Amino acid sequence: MASITIRQLDESLKQQLRLRAASHGRSMEDEVRTILRAAAGATEATPVRASPRRNERVAVERPPPVSTPGLSVTRKRILLIIGGGIAAYKSLDLIRRLRERHMAVRCILTAAAQEFITPLSAGALAGERAFTDLFDAASELDVGHIRLARDTDAIVVAPATADLMAKMAGGHADDLASAVLLASNRPILIAPAMNPAMWAHGATQRNLAQLIHDGVVTIGPNAGEMAEAGEAGVGRMAEPLEIAAATEALFGEAGERPLAGKRVVVTSGPTHEPIDPVRYIANRSSGRQGHAIAAAAAAAGAAVTLVSGPVNIPDPPGVRIVKVESARAMFEAVEAALPADCAVFAAAVADWRVATPGREKIKKQKGKGPPPLALVENPDILATIAHRKTQRPPLVVGFAAETENVIQNAKVKLARKGCDWIVANDVSPETGIMGGESNTVHLVTADGVETWPSQSKDDVARALVAKIAGALTGDQA
Ligand code: CTP
Repeated sequence: MASITIRQLDESLKQQLRLRAASHGRSMEDEVRTILRAAAGATEATPVRASPRRNERVAVERPPPVSTPGLSVTRKRILLIIGGGIAAYKSLDLIRRLRERHMAVRCILTAAAQEFITPLSAGALAGERAFTDLFDAASELDVGHIRLARDTDAIVVAPATADLMAKMAGGHADDLASAVLLASNRPILIAPAMNPAMWAHGATQRNLAQLIHDGVVTIGPNAGEMAEAGEAGVGRMAEPLEIAAATEALFGEAGERPLAGKRVVVTSGPTHEPIDPVRYIANRSSGRQGHAIAAAAAAAGAAVTLVSGPVNIPDPPGVRIVKVESARAMFEAVEAALPADCAVFAAAVADWRVATPGREKIKKQKGKGPPPLALVENPDILATIAHRKTQRPPLVVGFAAETENVIQNAKVKLARKGCDWIVANDVSPETGIMGGESNTVHLVTADGVETWPSQSKDDVARALVAKIAGALTGDQA
């Protein structure tokens, strides 16, 4: 009997076999056995073409059936856009991870991505040819970029390079990937990957803020070593398993992402009101509660704009953050973030500012005593937004920081400010709430008062977001 070993196969056949085996998670020997078994059983194995041309159909296997027994959800179709970065190699693994989760994957590779991986390898793993060119007659006739954009349940961009993010934020459409992204009305998840300096650059952060504002969901980047020797920081693409989980979460049960498609504005932290260039009036707010609310709303699927005063805590993931100093700047940022479905005013806004802050540092003057500080009232952001005739968010939630008669004062505030709900808390120093980790709140609405148990600020945030989701979707808990 003739014998043949894998080593004797020609290189291109070996490469095809390697890819096919990888896509099935089998060793090459096992893959050969499977092919032979299928041939012996007269079940025709899907042909493997030796050297397909770019953009030619290179399917080496049929994707798993659309409905997998035991799986109630219909099979989701993912359009994976692979950008040009060293992390592109991880996207090949991502294809497998998505398919393991019974998702059908179709790939687009940018020109830069093809410097790192080939359409052949992506196509072989996906079980369908990979697309590359906007002006390719064959693919336009076959599918077309508009159908690529529409015939999918979600788009995943991994790696999302700085350039690709800039194109998305700017609405460019000069190659297949950007044209498809612009033409799509499906959920989009991006997994940014770039050098830490590029990630931290103001331009990238502006583009990121715009994308989040547009409803794009982000995963990563993670911190760690870079491909470049000696470089480390935030910029590594999230791991394929993390991206696959985030992709799945796009389709979470309605109950898991109840705020999907909703826009939420949150204010957080203190404001700083200048006395002169070096001094300011402030308060003890840490921003923890407001930031936790922004994070919880984003996790529930909302497109969140967080307007934050100066704080010393990390930016919450997945939110567009606008950093301000003064009450007036906070007010402007909130107005610019409208329209919104809900606005939550958790910031401890300074009620007063110095009427005329010193242009230079105010000096002590012998014999004159301390300088008089004339104060004027700041705009009441909550009350102004709640009383707007146009663009009033359907649900306006205020906070009440009280040191006595908490519930009674909160009820008065609810009426005075014209908001729908007030989250009232006792901020007397002995409670440790201001600046602390936990919170005890009362939710005051037109329907009455709910007193919640003492819990972490994250738990208060999740409970509040669940209430907000119930109110916005009519699905009251
Ligand atoms: N708030 C606001 N703009 C202000 C002052 C307060 O948006 N200039 C908001 C807060 O974010 C909070 C609510 O109003 O949601 C109540 O804030 P709080 O400090 O408790 O009340 P004040 O309006 O400042 O009233 P007082 O200090 O007299 O209790």
